Amino acid sequence: MSVSRAMTVVAGAALALAALATPGAALPSRHHTPRSVDAIWADPAARARAQQAGAPLFQKHCAQCHGADARGLAGHHTPDLTDDRWLFGGEDIDTFLIRASDIAFTIRHGIRSGDPRARNLAVMPALGVGHSLDPDEVAAVTEYVLKLSGQPFDATQIAAGRETFEGEGGCYDCHTVQGWGDAAIGSTDLTRPATYLYGHDRTAIAASITQGRAGVSPAFAGKLTPAEIRDLSIYVLARAKSRKYI
Ligand code: HEC
Ligand code: HEC
Repeated sequence: MSVSRAMTVVAGAALALAALATPGAALPSRHHTPRSVDAIWADPAARARAQQAGAPLFQKHCAQCHGADARGLAGHHTPDLTDDRWLFGGEDIDTFLIRASDIAFTIRHGIRSGDPRARNLAVMPALGVGHSLDPDEVAAVTEYVLKLSGQPFDATQIAAGRETFEGEGGCYDCHTVQGWGDAAIGSTDLTRPATYLYGHDRTAIAASITQGRAGVSPAFAGKLTPAEIRDLSIYVLARAKSRKYI
């Protein structure tokens, strides 16, 4: 190598090092901090690549609980991830649009997973234990939930059931007075029986109220790479029928 050629190489290396050391220096995008999952979502070509990479990851890490088709497995009490309803919402409280980063948060930290940042603001309390509600109250409020869900109900119990729902039972506080559920805490939309995770017949509803429910989705931080979590988030969001969480 000639001296001048060697000088050029050294100078080039020094420039590259200087660029690396300078915060915000313009480097080719491949060497940048990875793009945010929302930026990938917004770019059709990158989104398609992520979706493709996410599919086998979903089969490997999620399908055992969520089903190979992501539509939920009754025995695992998992929601249908492809329907138009989200149990948990997101950060965007102006448009109620769920973003890939909201799903990434759920995958990273889980739901009631034990991770300190898990989605865990509320569980369904066991209201039949410790006599919070007596058996008559449970029976009446069960009829009221059947009514809210559009199923056949015992009309003679509705006045008492409603009183419990909107009063002592505290149901309205977590599920709203209308029964719509609250995406901030992941409470069930009681008006849509198809979305119930634990069954929507009389026996199942009474059991949910009596013994409580607290579904768990594991935290994948540290088990999957950030890139894998991004690909999975985009795969899940792309399959959903609705990007609105309300
Ligand atoms: C502290 C908040 C809270 C209160 C109070 C509460 N719920 Fe819930 N409820 C939840 C949450 C959160 C879930 C979802 C649990 C899960 O996904 O595992 C839930 C789930 C349920 C379910 C099961 C739905 C399914 O997916 O199968 C029923 C039924 C239900 N609640 C009815 C009631 C009724 C009736 C009352 C009042 C007597 C009540 N809840 C009070 C938070 C609450
Ligand atoms: C061990 C079983 C299990 C595994 C494995 C699992 N999940 Fe879950 N997941 C659940 C359960 C149960 C729920 C419902 C939690 C509740 O009751 O609120 C859930 C809920 C979710 C939700 C919330 C959906 C909504 O409507 O808001 C998302 C998103 C999700 N899981 C994604 C994933 C992804 C992606 C993977 C794989 C990386 C995964 N989960 C792996 C059990 C699992």
